[in-house]
Amino acid sequence: MVKSHLRSVLSRYAAAVLSVLAALLITLEAKTLFSTTFYGLFLCAVMFSAWYGGLLPGLAATVLSVLAFDYYFIPPIRSLNLTSAELVHLIVFVSVALFITYLNSKRAHAEEALRKSRDDLEAQVQERTTKLHQLSGRLLHLQDEERRRIARELHETIAQSLVVLKMDLSVLAKSKQSLPIPAQEALQEATALAQECMREARTLSYLLHPPLLDEVGLSAALRWYVDGFARRSGIETELQMPSDIGRLSQEVETTVFRIVQECLTNIHRHSASATAKVRIARLATDVVLEVQDDGCGMPETAIVSTMNLGATLGVGIAGIRERVQELGGHLEIKSHNGGTTIKVVLRPREEAA
Ligand SMILES: Nc1ncnc2c1ncn2[C@@H]1O[C@H](COP(=O)(O)OP(=O)(O)O)[C@@H](O)[C@H]1O
Ligand SMILES: [Mg+2]
Repeated sequence: MVKSHLRSVLSRYAAAVLSVLAALLITLEAKTLFSTTFYGLFLCAVMFSAWYGGLLPGLAATVLSVLAFDYYFIPPIRSLNLTSAELVHLIVFVSVALFITYLNSKRAHAEEALRKSRDDLEAQVQERTTKLHQLSGRLLHLQDEERRRIARELHETIAQSLVVLKMDLSVLAKSKQSLPIPAQEALQEATALAQECMREARTLSYLLHPPLLDEVGLSAALRWYVDGFARRSGIETELQMPSDIGRLSQEVETTVFRIVQECLTNIHRHSASATAKVRIARLATDVVLEVQDDGCGMPETAIVSTMNLGATLGVGIAGIRERVQELGGHLEIKSHNGGTTIKVVLRPREEAA
């Protein structure tokens, strides 16, 4: 640090000395050319030194220039004696040189202030971006928690009540013959409706937070989800996942599940693909997930806007990116006319026992 500062100071003074030396040599070489205006190149040397080195090197160049042309160009040559007429010339030169040096140092200060305020701004932007990332990570986490809570409530209240309702209806159904025809029809309808509501409540609860994810892990939950997706969407969906993948931390399992959910939903909504492939592999320290389709591909603008932090924060692919960043992983999107592949590499911090 100290060394580099010293080097920069030395280089600024060296530039001042060398530029005055260059002005001197050129003026000496071409004496006839500069016979009346030998100040010219020395002013250039002062200007350069003040621009490159700042105030003090500018002043050093001014002093060196005065000594040089007094010694070499003002009669008596090779002496520092001066007549009063020559002194006026020198004073004019020194005044101009000082003015130039002053203007340059002002400019340098303004530039320094500008650089500092830009650095401050950059630091502020960096700090706010980090805060924004933390906030969105926290929001995603809260969203998962909220979904888990609603799913549990749904399962424990509505779904349980529906089971009881269905049992009551089946008790009624036993004495169905004693009921008038319209009541029998209403009973049949109510039983079908209760059945339908139970199925809906169960699906909704699973989608919000598959209980399997907590109980038997990612593999079973994904198998269930992928099969359901293929059945409902008509998209031939393949899941490749080693059966011995083991348990990952709850955070990683939830993230992988949500990413697969989002990617398959996207394939259904946007790709017009007939097939989808979900591949999950566990390498040494990483979990690698790929979701591929052979549909129309993502528009370039969609890739750019989802990869940049923007208005889409926390939604779709932008949400995937946030989840992945939270876990220190990375997201890659490969998309062309032949389809889209979303690849996510996660580096789990800790694992569930
Ligand atoms: N598999 C895909 N095939 C084609 N386009 C896709 C695919 N996935 C995403 N896209 C495009 O990327 C955009 C952003 O996706 P996303 O962030 O999930 O937002 P959303 O699904 O809410 O529109 C989509 O609007 C769509 O245009
Ligand atoms: Mg989407």
